[in-house]
Amino acid sequence: MSKNIDWSNLGFGYVPTDKRFVANFVNGKWDEGALIDDPMVTMSECAGVLQYAQTCFEGLKAYRTEDGKVVCFRPDLNAARMADSCRRLEMPVFPEDKFVDACLAVVKANLDFVPPYGSGATLYLRPYMFGINPVIGVKPAEDYQFRIFCTPVGPYFKGGAKPIVIRVSDFDRAAPNGTGHIKAGLNYAMSLHAIVDAHNKGFSENMYLDPKTRTKVEETGGANFIFITKDGTLVTPKSDSILPSITRRSLMIVAEKYLGMKVEHREVYLDELKDFAECGLCGTAAVISPVGKIDDHGNEICFPAGMEEMGPWTKKLYDTLTGIQMGRLEAPEGWIRVIE
Ligand code: PLP
Ligand code: COI
Repeated sequence: MSKNIDWSNLGFGYVPTDKRFVANFVNGKWDEGALIDDPMVTMSECAGVLQYAQTCFEGLKAYRTEDGKVVCFRPDLNAARMADSCRRLEMPVFPEDKFVDACLAVVKANLDFVPPYGSGATLYLRPYMFGINPVIGVKPAEDYQFRIFCTPVGPYFKGGAKPIVIRVSDFDRAAPNGTGHIKAGLNYAMSLHAIVDAHNKGFSENMYLDPKTRTKVEETGGANFIFITKDGTLVTPKSDSILPSITRRSLMIVAEKYLGMKVEHREVYLDELKDFAECGLCGTAAVISPVGKIDDHGNEICFPAGMEEMGPWTKKLYDTLTGIQMGRLEAPEGWIRVIE
């Protein structure tokens, strides 16, 4: 471990690492791609991404396991989701097998930046693609760049596993029949005002509702919701405009197969939140972040576990998921890709 980084005090930020992967789509085909040193991107002032936000991205992590290996968690699902994002945004798909190979190659080229086991930090990988040639009429670009960089990160929310307070947002995240189900940069651009406003008012995140009826829970700006009923059932919202979180899909399997919980993937109404015993946000960056309180326009929904620690079922889910990721528990077939 040659890098002089204070692993245990890392936040969720950008630390430049040694190598990144770059591939270019020119004349209708992808080149071989390569690992390069230069972290800077140069492009036309009129590039498609700069004019019409033609970009999508992914997020996944590499972990150092208890027995010293370095692994990635389900990168094939990130490859598949990025392909879905590209198709919806009229971008060329980067071949899914090559996507996985490039993720593993980036980790391998930056092994010194994979935080030590037990430090609480992990190596976050950010694959992304954007239209790079000049575009001035509203249409897709012709040339694209696909890149993957990595950066060591700590907890997404300050305080790590301490419950957070969120609010029901008056802003919407994703329109019906829009782009909420893919990882388009534009979904995040339009959430920036809402998150700054939430932070200014003392909330860690926004709970977005379905824009059509404003009665159903969708997700937050960067994570899906999980709820636990008083009798220990995992309930997680279903909607066409929610990003299909790989963490959430994994937790549904973990809950059923490892913890023997009942699992419900269904519409969740705002007015049933008061009946749940526990609430959490799940995602690659968020892992599982417990929610202690939801503010619905001054009406406070407080979960019984309180503001000091996560509830008992959330803790079991957290320990089991991270146990699988860090090699303490046996993973389902195909979930773990060993790099070294
Ligand atoms: N929802 C949104 C809007 C996100 O940005 C993310 C992060 O990727 C998630 C959910 C969680 O997805 P995943 O578990 O695949 O990281
Ligand atoms: C992730 O969890 O990978 C995301 O992309 C969410 C983002 C808020 C960092």
